[in-house]
Amino acid sequence: MLEDRIISVMDRTELDAYLDQQFPTRREMLYANHAAISPWPRAARDAVEGFARENVERGPMGVSQWLLRESRLRRTIAGFLNTDEDDVAFLQNTSEGINLVAAGIDWQAGDNVVTACGEYVSNRLPWLALAGRGVKIREVDIRATADPEAALLNAMDARSRVLTVSSVQWNDGLRLDLERLGKTCKDSDALFFVDAIQQFCALQLDVRACHIDALSAGSHKWQMGPEGIGVFYASPAARDTLQLHRHGWRMLEQPYQFDHRSLDAAQSARRFEIGSPNTLGQAALAGALSVFEKLGIETTESSVLANTDQLSSGLSSIPGVRLHSPHESRRRSGIVAFSSGSATPAQLRSRLSRKGLFAAVRGDALRLSPHFYQAGENIEKMLGVIEDCI
Ligand SMILES: Cc1ncc(COP(=O)(O)O)c(C=O)c1O
Repeated sequence: MLEDRIISVMDRTELDAYLDQQFPTRREMLYANHAAISPWPRAARDAVEGFARENVERGPMGVSQWLLRESRLRRTIAGFLNTDEDDVAFLQNTSEGINLVAAGIDWQAGDNVVTACGEYVSNRLPWLALAGRGVKIREVDIRATADPEAALLNAMDARSRVLTVSSVQWNDGLRLDLERLGKTCKDSDALFFVDAIQQFCALQLDVRACHIDALSAGSHKWQMGPEGIGVFYASPAARDTLQLHRHGWRMLEQPYQFDHRSLDAAQSARRFEIGSPNTLGQAALAGALSVFEKLGIETTESSVLANTDQLSSGLSSIPGVRLHSPHESRRRSGIVAFSSGSATPAQLRSRLSRKGLFAAVRGDALRLSPHFYQAGENIEKMLGVIEDCI
């Protein structure tokens, strides 16, 4: 539980006061849709208000501070991912990162991409779009087996250039063993790409331990930041491999010398940032991530997983409820999907929202995705509302 883990950092009263301050509606609003769009913590609002005020009162006079904030933010994200700030770029969203990777490989007809069936559409279309170049996409049914990693790896052969998966599946929250996948990709020279939007800042993520080559994660879900800014990671080796197809001033090694005629792209992941940055998004994201920095990402992870355990066991004890999410704890994430014989997911969602519990319909299930700050009491309330509505 959040409270138990954090007690060494601050006492219970301080923690409650901090969470009430950051999430003023947390005691009354049963928001369980962070896997779609998260509310912001107050720190994000304060950062945006401050930045707006500064722009009105001083214009860009403090631009050097904006650049410092950008590199601090890169360092924070790099720390969360266990990598160097040079490996981190800011893009608009997850989809943009996936497209950069798909467009950056020197494909040969007959190459293939291995992925999971049912990936979010953004992790399918950019690969399907390569069909005209003779690239095949192999979609593996990871739910038809007890060993999804083996199924994915068995689908790979000498012509597999990329393995691309979401580390946590968007609909039922199934979590993959990235370390196992990454190790095999490394041994076989295939690029390992991870869509981490449903994992980053919900569960810990170590790109080095998992041998991830590139990763993309929009900020508006578990990171609790705004839409329109996302984190992109590319290892030094991936940066050597991925060809650049977009060009602009900011990707250069020396972006502030404006007489360039040659393409001297930065060695760092900044090579993927082609124009003026989303400074407003960076301000908001820096505010949001300050909450994780303060509490510690291991602490927030244990709270997310405790929520999932509590929800899963509570739901399993309600007659007629079927859990669609994994039972095995190593497969669990922040997402819990379920259905009930007594109502369709859409009917259930409307009943729940009338009682102040906000969830999402995904396929044939209702998806719940509370975040760390709702631990304990709120999860109990959610279960009570669900039981009343079934
Ligand atoms: C697994 C997954 N990938 C990608 C996206 C879309 O991300 P973005 O809008 O940041 O491109 C979503 C959104 O729901 C998602 O669940």
